[in-house]
Amino acid sequence: MSAASLFQARGLVKRFGGLLATDHVDLAVEKGEIHALIGPNGAGKSTLVNLISGLLPLDGGSLSLDGVELTGLAPHQRVRAGLSRCFQVTSVFGHDTVLDNLLLAAQAHAGSSFRFLSRRSAEKELMDTALALAETVDLAGALHRIAGTLPHGAQRKLDVALALAARPRLLLLDEPMAGMGPEDSLQMVALIEKLRAQTAILLIEHDMDAVFQLADRVSVLDYGRVLASGDVDYIKGHPEVQAVYLGTDTET
Ligand SMILES: Nc1ncnc2c1ncn2[C@@H]1O[C@H](COP(=O)(O)OP(=O)(O)OP(=O)(O)O)[C@@H](O)[C@H]1O
Ligand SMILES: [Mg+2]
Repeated sequence: MSAASLFQARGLVKRFGGLLATDHVDLAVEKGEIHALIGPNGAGKSTLVNLISGLLPLDGGSLSLDGVELTGLAPHQRVRAGLSRCFQVTSVFGHDTVLDNLLLAAQAHAGSSFRFLSRRSAEKELMDTALALAETVDLAGALHRIAGTLPHGAQRKLDVALALAARPRLLLLDEPMAGMGPEDSLQMVALIEKLRAQTAILLIEHDMDAVFQLADRVSVLDYGRVLASGDVDYIKGHPEVQAVYLGTDTET
């Protein structure tokens, strides 16, 4: 962890009754980095993401992004500070069109400079933003589809676009490939690789092919602790990691 890390988590602690779900976790994400977080079921990955995004209160530790202290901030304040997330369960408005979802997200994150624009200019700016987001996630051909009727893979892409509307500097992705077939997974890998140019990413994923393809750094959680952290080759060769995770996770 260098002093210049984009994101730093120090000594994070979360207890659920007697269970130490997050056990003094230190984690850093550098600018431009895709940092993958892996670990067996129940290791504490989602809990960690919920602590970082502010959905769960911390029992200890602190967080900062780009030198801004996030500890104690509400989730929407963290989004404003540059931290955006996708959910394991998709967060799109199913009865609205893809375009309406994107317009809504663009509007929610429009800066205060909008106050000085005419209504016409503001609407054009929102439309441009929405179309650019659709382009980024490869949904420009589906703008007028009702979001809830899209195939699963396309809904996940829309979910990513909604998170991108906040112009994050750190994007949290909790199992973006969950429930996807091979074709959709490949497309999601390509999308995440493309996003590297605009935001750092903390990626939680069970699909090891995807993790090893995308990650600059991998941290392994086990019983709420960071068991190991390093580049892909280091993690692949780490005996304890193989024992607790890779060796037992034969399906991926
Ligand atoms: N709200 C909660 N109340 C009590 N215990 C919880 C709560 N949320 C999670 N836990 C427990 O904390 C531990 C970590 O759970 P978590 O969901 O963070 O794991 P995970 O690594 O995301 O697992 P998975 O790979 O299955 O998504 C588990 O033992 C879980 O049962
Ligand atoms: Mg989880």
